[in-house]
Amino acid sequence: MDSQNSSGDIQVKLDVISDEIVEKHLCKVSSVIEIISEEKAEPVRVNESGKYYVAYDPLDGSSLIDVNLSVGSIFGIYKGGYSGENVVAAVYVVYGPRVEMVVARDTVELFRLNEKTGVFDFVKELRLNEKGKILAPGGTQKEWYPFHKEMIDNLFKEGYRLRYSGGMVPDLHQILLKGGGLFAYPATNDKPKGKLRKLFEVFPFAYVYNKAGGLAVDGFKSLLELDSQNYHDTTPCFFGSNYEITKVLQTYEGAKK
Ligand code: AHG
Ligand code: MN
Ligand code: MN
Repeated sequence: MDSQNSSGDIQVKLDVISDEIVEKHLCKVSSVIEIISEEKAEPVRVNESGKYYVAYDPLDGSSLIDVNLSVGSIFGIYKGGYSGENVVAAVYVVYGPRVEMVVARDTVELFRLNEKTGVFDFVKELRLNEKGKILAPGGTQKEWYPFHKEMIDNLFKEGYRLRYSGGMVPDLHQILLKGGGLFAYPATNDKPKGKLRKLFEVFPFAYVYNKAGGLAVDGFKSLLELDSQNYHDTTPCFFGSNYEITKVLQTYEGAKK
């Protein structure tokens, strides 16, 4: 059958294999009580004596594998259950020309895989500036709300440059390393609740951006104030430095009136 050889099938396989690899390793961590991933319908109980809940996207950007662009893995570490306010740490890994890992606790630190030793070496602490120069506007443009389109157009008029690969890990990593900018995956006519998943994608990156001195909102409030009714819930989301996120909040508040 054609579909068995289609790229979609390969991607599904890679998503599942990635999930199995991560699960195997997380099961060995005694402090982890439960895990859930983008590939699992329900959580898996791991170690009853553990206290951390880990929600992860084992392979983010799997549609980019076929075109050989960077992909990633995202991990949210929660205490007391899965909600924005329960995130206690977040980690993501970028598989690009280099393998890099960002770990957010009180600070946000960049590590790089040392091919010789197989160990991640500390590179530097990451901090966002007040304002950036790049813009990653997600979602189908013909489905954007008019006020959202106007906001994006205005940022481009201010001189922002387009940087959007279709993988939130490399796109958000670029903004973080360049010191600022805006990544947006808004509510649209066809997807009023956005596309990106709270537990595996949005909350972990919201934590990273907050700890790096930036902001992460759903258009009205901090993403870390949101809870989650279902494991696979999505939300509109915006990550960036202060200047751009302030524009987002003003635009969305203004549109409500
Ligand atoms: P996943 O591969 O885990 O399903 O996630 C892909 C996500 C995210 O990485 C990216 O920012 C977004 O989907 C891209 O969506 P569009 O193709 O709609 O731009
Ligand atoms: Mn993803
Ligand atoms: Mn994925």
